[in-house]
Amino acid sequence: MTINKHILLGVSGGIAAYKSAELVRLLKKQGAEVQVVMTQSAMQFVSPLTFQALSGNPVHSELLDADAENAMGHISLARWADCLLIAPATANLIAKLSHGLADDLLSTLYLAATCPVYVAPAMNQAMWNKTVTQENVETLQRHGVKLIGPEQGDQACGETGYGRMSEPVAICNYLADALENQNPSPVQCLQGLNVLISAGPTREPIDPVRYLTNRSSGKMGYALANAALKAGAEVTLVSGPVSLTAPANVQLIKVETAAQMYEAVMSRASDHAIYIGAAAVADYSPVIMQPEKIKKQEEQSTLILQKTKDILADVAKLDKHPFTVGFAAETHNLEVYARDKLARKKLDMIAANWVGKEQGGFDSEQNALHVFWEKGDKVFSMTDKTRLAEQLISLIAERFNTT
Ligand code: C5P
Repeated sequence: MTINKHILLGVSGGIAAYKSAELVRLLKKQGAEVQVVMTQSAMQFVSPLTFQALSGNPVHSELLDADAENAMGHISLARWADCLLIAPATANLIAKLSHGLADDLLSTLYLAATCPVYVAPAMNQAMWNKTVTQENVETLQRHGVKLIGPEQGDQACGETGYGRMSEPVAICNYLADALENQNPSPVQCLQGLNVLISAGPTREPIDPVRYLTNRSSGKMGYALANAALKAGAEVTLVSGPVSLTAPANVQLIKVETAAQMYEAVMSRASDHAIYIGAAAVADYSPVIMQPEKIKKQEEQSTLILQKTKDILADVAKLDKHPFTVGFAAETHNLEVYARDKLARKKLDMIAANWVGKEQGGFDSEQNALHVFWEKGDKVFSMTDKTRLAEQLISLIAERFNTT
């Protein structure tokens, strides 16, 4: 088996850190390019020089290091990685990662990484069995992190039980397998193409202080923008109000209302090869925006609403229309409604997902999608939105190139 990938190996402070030196050797032998990041406590167990010599690259350990930031800062390292492998992962590191703390280079890299993350825990068996550790591990798994081990057996502390780090050979084989079975990465599949994406909710004003909106967080649209960028596209992101930071390299157009989003998208759509309508556009907006705050008077009050213009359908109707991809969030009859929208709005593709209490979808970190096009469909099972966006971008590129 070969691993022709960039592996970022995070080493935290456990006695098993010495085994990771062997792990670097094995990964290199399989063809991987390896960079090592060590926590301060890891360096108490093994010298960075060992990892430097074995990986052939300088070891990274400082978050705020002027030289490192100029060369391979945390963002560049995160972008460089095809996979982040943390071995050994201590109880403390797992706790930090599961709560999104970022107080050193490794934990910050975890937050910055958009690649798959694999964690090989190593700790005393009582620490592993502690409820809080188990809860933290479950949280990480829910966030899409894959666990390698730990194994049962004798421990350095003299006790026996679960908590031993998996052997380097086992970790290496697991990784080779996992990376081989990954969906093809979307790298450069949209090279040179202009992609227009709409994301987030819209706000329809009722009066100067009130508006109608929905639960969309914009996470899916922003993840798609990131994935399209990674795939080599020039990305324009038309975004409703969200609390997310857009990737630095996109052209961001901020809008608030459905009418503004319509204008922003329609005026640009013909200049783009692909349009992905991931925004949760309001279907109705108040006919009149009251210029002054509406006073509380009657027991009942009526708001008169007007249907908004369907951006997606109108983009698909343009003479010079882009490859058009819509979304359909449904609480029932997913396939029937999605296929109906695909045909009615004359879309090239529609990505449908369940929404409701038990599902991912709106305002959630994870989602699952069932994608339909005229003569086919594909299911993407529940995963984090970053991964899902990469899978969807790969599929869009594939369909775009065959139509
Ligand atoms: O018909 P429905 O609103 O369920 O379709 C959802 C899809 O249509 C999404 O892709 C959404 O971005 C798009 N849409 C739109 N303009 C609207 C309403 C929905 O582009 N006014």
